[in-house]
Amino acid sequence: MAPSVEAEPVSSYDRNKDTYRGPSKVKFDPAIHLNYTPPERVYSLSELGLPLEGTSDFATTEPFQLATEAAIVELRRELLQPNTLKKRMHTWPRAPASLRGFTKEEAPFTHAFWTSPEVIKILSDAAGIEMEVALPYEIGHTNVQLGPEGREGLKNLPLYPVPVPPGWEEEKGDYDHLPVDNWHKDSFAYSCVMMLSNTEKMVGGETAIQLPDGTTRKLRGTKMGSCIFLQGRHMPHAALRAWNTGERITMVCPYRPAHPAIRDDTEITNSLQQSYLNELYGQFSLERFKVIRKKCDYMIKRLEDQKREALEREPDNYNAVIMDEKEVGNMMREMVWYLETAMKQMGMYKDDK
Ligand SMILES: [Fe+2]
Repeated sequence: MAPSVEAEPVSSYDRNKDTYRGPSKVKFDPAIHLNYTPPERVYSLSELGLPLEGTSDFATTEPFQLATEAAIVELRRELLQPNTLKKRMHTWPRAPASLRGFTKEEAPFTHAFWTSPEVIKILSDAAGIEMEVALPYEIGHTNVQLGPEGREGLKNLPLYPVPVPPGWEEEKGDYDHLPVDNWHKDSFAYSCVMMLSNTEKMVGGETAIQLPDGTTRKLRGTKMGSCIFLQGRHMPHAALRAWNTGERITMVCPYRPAHPAIRDDTEITNSLQQSYLNELYGQFSLERFKVIRKKCDYMIKRLEDQKREALEREPDNYNAVIMDEKEVGNMMREMVWYLETAMKQMGMYKDDK
């Protein structure tokens, strides 16, 4: 791999000379690539009137600034590279174009950005519980609005996103009537959605959330590099089409709770329709086992600690209580559900195979 180089601040670089599209050679540096402004508000599921089916009461943030323009350029450099446009573009009923499944080799900056301790800390603080990345396959999942040139037009998008010039007129295209990503609940518990396009003249292009009273709430940052973080597994939402802009690109990374006592709601229902399945199944299984291992280690420690406490508390009682039956039962039920869900998702459950 090429040696990493320091990022050049976007303001000082010549956009016309910067034409390289491929794996970024820039090393992720939070001082250069993050420009975090905390969200003005965080909404809970209960205050939005949504059912408390998730693993926390966290629903969504208001949009907040996360990345700098220097970071956006590196993410776009990897996203719009010929290899990615050729191998990583998928289309499925819900979205005309998504780019996804980048390996660490194809998109080292993208992986470094979304897995960085700094980004994870920001998202954990917003949700109120510690987060970790849910599935490497989904790091940098990107929804791309298609213009009149369709998928072919993506290779012409600039590295540095600019607003449409004065007098620019919207051309009619085949995808005008479609949302960028139609109404859905995510397969992943928590997701961060970041705007990679210039929003100066953009109209629309929000992430919309459907509330139980039938109304919608539309959220969109004011700048490229702004985000929303949401518990999309339990909240219907859509990516709306944008107007008066040459493009609307949003990049997503899914997360799960890091603490082993908290359920992992991750499924791959949506991923199944837009993935290379062998790679997806392999990664999904690996993550399942990692989570189960973490839960086992946690329960082993809990039971060992409780046995020690019982001995200290009641040294002469041969039948002292040494475990919390409710906790053990709940964890065992959760693990069975967790593995059965995985087998169903991969078509291996009971008579499926
Ligand atoms: Fe979503």
